[in-house]
Amino acid sequence: MRMIVRESACLQGSTRDALRELWDRAFGDRFSEDDADHAYGGVHVIAIDDDRIVGHASAIPRRIQFGDARWRTIAYVEAVAVHPDVQRGGLGTHIMRVLQDEMRGRWPTAMLSTGRATGFYEALGWERWQGLSYTLTSGGPLEDGEHGGLMVLRLDGSSDPDVHLTVTCEERAGDAW
Ligand SMILES: CC(C)(COP(=O)(O)OP(=O)(O)OC[C@H]1O[C@@H](n2cnc3c(N)ncnc32)[C@H](O)[C@@H]1OP(=O)(O)O)[C@@H](O)C(=O)NCCC(=O)NCCS
Repeated sequence: MRMIVRESACLQGSTRDALRELWDRAFGDRFSEDDADHAYGGVHVIAIDDDRIVGHASAIPRRIQFGDARWRTIAYVEAVAVHPDVQRGGLGTHIMRVLQDEMRGRWPTAMLSTGRATGFYEALGWERWQGLSYTLTSGGPLEDGEHGGLMVLRLDGSSDPDVHLTVTCEERAGDAW
């Protein structure tokens, strides 16, 4: 098993096809074309076993507003997946640790949105966001409603941001968060 770290710009078509296959296997029909697009534009950690991609996570820069503070650029984690054949063997944790080290040198804070895996991320130091979340649309900020799966990781170790504040992201195709 080897772990590689690559910028999106360095990933060729064949690697992108193999990643799409991995996401389809890991997420089933929960993973859309927009979800795949969201995974690119930053840095990837890819686990390869015997020339086969068996795990992935990426982080992209996104502009986020905490409370009414100035907008800032943070890391947003996308497309975390381990092939079903090798899940629950520690690979997801290993990939995330490598990605977290990589993000630490680049951004002060990271966020992600997860449906079912909050426990997996909590074990890696992530906290659940407690405040309301919004999406900034052309018509202004729109409340997302309850969003139990939004999480934050303090890469710089500071107590900022306060998880009870509101948090706003910019609109994009597909899921905003
Ligand atoms: C979530 C995922 C990446 C975890 O990878 P993994 O290699 O299986 O995880 P690990 O073996 O490192 O798990 C470590 C611990 O995290 C927790 N955990 C792992 N997967 C979990 C899940 N799907 N839900 C809740 N907790 C989970 C468990 O406590 C696990 O320890 P245990 O096996 O001793 O109980 C993998 O299950 C996956 O690809 N799932 C489908 C896609 C997905 O949901 N991705 C995350 C979306 S944000």
